[in-house]
Amino acid sequence: MRTNKITIAIDGYSSTGKSTLAKALAKELGYLYVDSGAMYRAVTLYALDHGIISDRLDTDLLITKLPEINIEFRLNASSQVGEMFLNGKNIEGPIRSMRVSDWVSPVAAVSEVRTKMVAMQQAMGLDKGVVMDGRDIGSVVFPDAELKLFLTASDDIRSQRRFDELKSKSTDLSLQMVKANLISRDQQDSSREDSPLIKSPDAIVIDNSNLTIKDQLELVLKLVEGLD
Ligand code: DC
Repeated sequence: MRTNKITIAIDGYSSTGKSTLAKALAKELGYLYVDSGAMYRAVTLYALDHGIISDRLDTDLLITKLPEINIEFRLNASSQVGEMFLNGKNIEGPIRSMRVSDWVSPVAAVSEVRTKMVAMQQAMGLDKGVVMDGRDIGSVVFPDAELKLFLTASDDIRSQRRFDELKSKSTDLSLQMVKANLISRDQQDSSREDSPLIKSPDAIVIDNSNLTIKDQLELVLKLVEGLD
């Protein structure tokens, strides 16, 4: 068992099981888990609820409103996982909706939004002992992370997993809608100018299309143990 704490960065495409792995790793290692995507989702929810997004995103208005957007993770005592709060309100449910998923990529492409989020993420990782998942964690947020992982899985498997996760909450959702959203977000997240989703050259790629959650966790724990 390692004694010195490290930083673990997990990046990859939408719905590749990054948060499932990150949460399990954090629990196993006694580390802090940070879902950086939840932060971009929180900003998107604010924009949707405050007339900043109608049929288009008003980028200038969003930038002027940024100081009014106060987001924080508060620890849920029973799950021991941080939940996203926006201006004092728990928004864990609404940020996972398709309404937010449909707009989060354009919001996450705004440099001023990213600057604010990245500063918060780096502050949360100052003492190490953190597992953070997202799109730019290994490339921008923690370029010196001791372990960088890049997760992938086939489009069909990712869509099915996401659909299974969402269908209990929303009945008017189809597998096709979920797949279209994943593919469109991946495209936007990979092609934006600021901090696009890329695999850092030093990241280890894990295709988990045919891996169980348990097998993947064991594999990554071995990687952690094997670090110098
Ligand atoms: O991980 P997620 O699907 O909840 O993330 C939602 C969106 O937020 C994703 O489509 C792109 C953006 N994101 C980002 O740009 N950078 C991150 N570090 C995390 C998420």
